[in-house]
Amino acid sequence: MSLVSMNAFLPQAKEKKFAVGQFNMNNLEFAQAIMEAAIELKSPFIYGVSEGALKYMGIEYTVAIAEAAAKASGLPIALHLDHGSSFEVAMKCIRAGFSSVMFDGSHHSFEENIRLTKEVVKAARAMGVSVEGELGTIGGVEDDISVDEKNANLAKPSEAIRFYEETGVDCLAIAVGTAHGMYAGEPNIRFDIIEEVSRAIPVPVVLHGGSGVPDEMIRRAVQVGVGKINVNTENQVACTDAIRAALAKDSKVYDPRKYLGPARTAMVEVVKSKILLFGSNNQA
Ligand code: 13P
Repeated sequence: MSLVSMNAFLPQAKEKKFAVGQFNMNNLEFAQAIMEAAIELKSPFIYGVSEGALKYMGIEYTVAIAEAAAKASGLPIALHLDHGSSFEVAMKCIRAGFSSVMFDGSHHSFEENIRLTKEVVKAARAMGVSVEGELGTIGGVEDDISVDEKNANLAKPSEAIRFYEETGVDCLAIAVGTAHGMYAGEPNIRFDIIEEVSRAIPVPVVLHGGSGVPDEMIRRAVQVGVGKINVNTENQVACTDAIRAALAKDSKVYDPRKYLGPARTAMVEVVKSKILLFGSNNQA
């Protein structure tokens, strides 16, 4: 199977009330772990790739890995640019073979965000590529993007609805109280905002900052209209913890496969638990 746009599974997610995981790809082991978990549970999924990860892996390798995963697994997999910062980077990804892009214009004014997102949607749609937009600012640190949680502003439902109507995005990330990275305490998620927006638009709401959110809150978010959930930090932590443990166990180890193998296995477990929690198992 070739890579697919998110429209191959997001409409069903919204209708049947499950969420598809966006698991960020940081290297080959992440890609393999995510695919292995999804094959076992027959789940669609999204490889999220940030601009920082793209610089690290190289765009050609990124696309080749995702295409190989789609072919080997037979699963509906979208390769999605995470937090694309410009029209140019979105187009570069589409040209290289991405099947989906996020345009994050949340740092612009509301009107400018609409104008820029519309341009990306127009070009992407012509190529059969899906688009995620963002409204409000999501706190925390991701790659080079750092937003102080005090400055993270929540999305206003009326603006989110207008944003959807004017841009026609395929899913909409709105700031509702989650943050990138792990939480010091529990996040304060505004389920009322998710519900109000989700009721008014036909596409799913996206929850960023999925790591460390208590299971109950995830289930509730899915029930009120979240159809895509992004997870990165929990896989990074599982990967690094497994590497630390392998190195601590044998200080003479030098073959990377001896510590990257356990790291990959640890990430398979994280991804499996998220797929089951999001309810996307058996939906491929
Ligand atoms: P976490 O790293 O908190 O899981 O967030 C991932 C994310 O939202 C990617 O856009």
